[in-house]
Amino acid sequence: MIRFILRLKIIMAIPNIEKSGINNDVTFGDNVSVVEPVNLYGCTIGDDCFIGPFVEIQKDVIIGDRTRIQSHTFICELVSIGSDCFISHGVMFINDVFKKGGPAGGDRTQWKETIIGNNVSIGTNATILPVKITNNVVIGAGAVVTKDINESGIYAGNPSRKIKKRSKHNDV
Ligand SMILES: CC(C)(COP(=O)(O)OP(=O)(O)OC[C@H]1O[C@@H](n2cnc3c(N)ncnc32)[C@H](O)[C@@H]1OP(=O)(O)O)[C@@H](O)C(=O)NCCC(=O)NCCS
Repeated sequence: MIRFILRLKIIMAIPNIEKSGINNDVTFGDNVSVVEPVNLYGCTIGDDCFIGPFVEIQKDVIIGDRTRIQSHTFICELVSIGSDCFISHGVMFINDVFKKGGPAGGDRTQWKETIIGNNVSIGTNATILPVKITNNVVIGAGAVVTKDINESGIYAGNPSRKIKKRSKHNDV
């Protein structure tokens, strides 16, 4: 009997469901393409950008002109990305590093920012902790970037390290 009542309760419970989508507080530049479904709110997207499907971009994020955000990428608050960048599939940004041994919860004072320069390409499935990355950088697939990158070049691995110089003709 108790099992029956428990099962009934589970069936009858109604979750709070919020819809994902493009909030009307998003600022778009000219000629932006977005492939739905996405979850975009409070962010600013520059001219000629591309946003692929299953992307979430949170509030106050700024994306520069001509930057492409490929599918399944997550860009959290306190991230800014420059112009002419390529953020590949499934790139994950982080603003809460669990400084006090666990999630900061609502305490935003513990969150940290990430600033990505111009002409930065980030490979598939990379994870970017709160760091600054200078212009003209390539991050390999699957990299985990844990420290600032102040020198142009190609970086890969976990933790990511510089593996090569970047050829000059790729720089802007
Ligand atoms: C990092 C990257 C740009 C390097 O390319 P590259 O300059 O041609 O480098 P190489 O293939 O010559 O590899 C150089 C060394 O780095 C290693 N390496 C290459 N990519 C790596 C990666 N993602 N993670 C860890 N090590 C990597 C190679 O094994 C090689 O090691 P070795 O010298 O011990 O043999 C490339 O491998 C990469 O990860 N590109 C991301 C592509 C991507 O995500 N595209 C998305 C669109 S589909």
